[in-house]
Formats: sequence, C-alpha cells, structure tokens
Amino acid sequence: MSMKKEIPNHERLIIALDVPDIEQAKALVSEISDSGHFYKIGLELFMTGQFFDLLDWLSDQDKKIFTDLKFFDIPQTVARAVSQLNGRNVFFATVHGNDGMMKAAAAAKQDVNILAVTALTSLDRGDLDDLGFQCDVQDLVVSRARRALQVGCDGVVASGHEAEILREQVDSKLLVVTPGIRPVDNDDDQKRAVTVSQAFVNGADYIVVGRPIKNAESPKAMVDQIQAEIAQAHG
Ligand code: C5P
Repeated sequence: MSMKKEIPNHERLIIALDVPDIEQAKALVSEISDSGHFYKIGLELFMTGQFFDLLDWLSDQDKKIFTDLKFFDIPQTVARAVSQLNGRNVFFATVHGNDGMMKAAAAAKQDVNILAVTALTSLDRGDLDDLGFQCDVQDLVVSRARRALQVGCDGVVASGHEAEILREQVDSKLLVVTPGIRPVDNDDDQKRAVTVSQAFVNGADYIVVGRPIKNAESPKAMVDQIQAEIAQAHG
C-alpha cells in the first residue's frame, strides 16, 4: 500500500458524474452533499456545452474536480488544451500515454495534475497485436507509467489489477487512480473489477466509482458505505 502520500481519506473516492445533463449532475452532487468531495466529469457532460458551467459550480461547492477528456492529439494541441484547464480549480486531467503527448501536457500544466491513460483495460492481447504492440499488457502499462513519470506527469489511470505491479515496479511517487470498482459482490460482466478495499490493498491512491453510486437506491448511502470502507482500508 502506498503510505507516502498525504491524501485525506475522504478525497480518495472520485465519483464519476456520467449523466446526460448538467441538471442531473447537480442533483446527484446535491443529494450526495457532504459525503462526496471529489467528482469526475467527462465526455458525456462535455458534449452538453455546459461543461465549464458545471466545473465552476463544482468549484463553488468546494469540490475537487477531475476532467476526464483523455486528450489525444499532436503535442502542441494537447499542450494548448491543458493550458485551458490551468487556473480553473481542476485537480486531475487525463491524456493518452504516448511520450510526446504526455511531455507536452506535463510542460503545459500549472495547477493541474496530469494522469496518463496507459492502456485501456478493455484491450486484450489480440487488440494489442492489431495495434502493433509486441509486448504483453502489463509490460506496456509499466513501461508507459515509468515514462509518464519521467516526462513530468503525476500519475496514471490503471485497473486494480495493474495497480499491484505498478507499485512493485514504478517509483512510489506515481499516483495510481483506479476505475472499475464494484463495491459489493460482483455478478455482472466486469471480470476485471475489484472491490474498494482490494483496490487500496493493491496500491491505488484514488478510486473512481460511477454506476454503482449513480444507480444505487440511495447514492448518498452508497457513498457513505464506500467512504467507511476507505477509512477502514487506511485504518
Ligand atoms: O464502471 P463505472 O461506472 O464505475 O465507471 C466509472 C468511470 O471510470 C467511467 O466514467 C469511465 O469513463 C471510467 N473508466 C476509465 N477507464 C477504464 C474504465 C472506466 O476511465 N478502464
């Protein structure tokens, strides 16, 4: 487990606001109220045209903000996109894991922390062959994570399974942010999902949880349950 970083436990849960409009996003945040401290907003809300209104609203509510737009373009364009996020109270932003893009993003950031998407967890060996990668997924993830740190990124997005090998093989100052969490026994098709406590045991610094909160009978009660598990995991 990563003990070096001074992260308040209640900020380790990042709630993904994967909803189609800003009103639903605000309603969910208001319902969760003081139990939720950190929110991720991504492409679905970006396409509403009110992305920055929501960003400013979250900032006014004293929430931490993760903009998950997974920038992928020529380095200069990536740098300019990151520049647009400086000074807006954005804590995390994502870029793809190619060296030039990661380097450009890291050079352009001021108050934003850059996370590199190493390899999408949905890719399997066959997909990597199609993309021309000879190595296996874990080797690719570790090598990209190392390079992300070298060029000045702050962390990576990685599954709970990859978190373990990253902790073993990459400098502990790398932040590991882990989606694919299933708080209760998992009976759906998310084979690579892990539980809250397993993610932290494996070395995650933050977890990202979307649908299990959004679709819960009581999103606030689900957030409280996850926060209690996080506190216990770091007890
Ligand atoms: O599955 P769940 O609804 O909890 O997903 C939460 C978030 O994690 C989603 O917003 C999705 O975009 C993100 N995610 C990711 N990388 C993955 C898997 C999920 O960024 N490999």
